[in-house]
Amino acid sequence: MFFPASLPGFLVEKQGHVLGLLTYAVANHQLEIVTIDALRRGRGVGTALVDAAVRQARTLGCSRVRLTTTNDNLDALRFYQRRGFKLAALRPDAVREARKLKPEIPAVGDYGIPITDEVDLERWVAPRQ
Ligand SMILES: CC(C)(COP(=O)(O)OP(=O)(O)OC[C@H]1O[C@@H](n2cnc3c(N)ncnc32)[C@H](O)[C@@H]1OP(=O)(O)O)[C@@H](O)C(=O)NCCC(=O)NCCS
Repeated sequence: MFFPASLPGFLVEKQGHVLGLLTYAVANHQLEIVTIDALRRGRGVGTALVDAAVRQARTLGCSRVRLTTTNDNLDALRFYQRRGFKLAALRPDAVREARKLKPEIPAVGDYGIPITDEVDLERWVAPRQ
């Protein structure tokens, strides 16, 4: 379980307005993206946030960046795979368990797809030379 408000992260700002936010946690030589949100999509905000996370992983000596998303989030699955992330694990029905802790997770997500499964993606990070 994570408490994102207490985690380190990165902001994208333009003229004093927040356009995006990423939070992360580091353990076992991996940097986990815990939350990533672009408030205005399709303008490079998400890419800038992922680039910052990858740079931070290198700086901290992490060998990979990982994250978990859900089966309905086709936009995120596309976004990450276009940015060098590979599918690493599928946990069918894991969201059922997550809902016991967080009942506000909706039953149906993007594109009308029932939210049922967790999907992990990871990107290996070359060490800083
Ligand atoms: C996933 C998410 C973070 C991506 O953020 P984003 O800011 O829309 O991402 P980007 O703008 O960097 O990239 C998205 C596309 O827009 C395009 N794009 C980037 N800059 C652009 C610009 N200036 N003008 C037009 N298009 C642009 C990119 O080319 C990219 O397409 P590609 O994948 O074919 O390369 C965003 O969709 C989001 O906040 N989703 C909701 C929260 C969420 O699902 N988070 C992930 C949970 S794990």
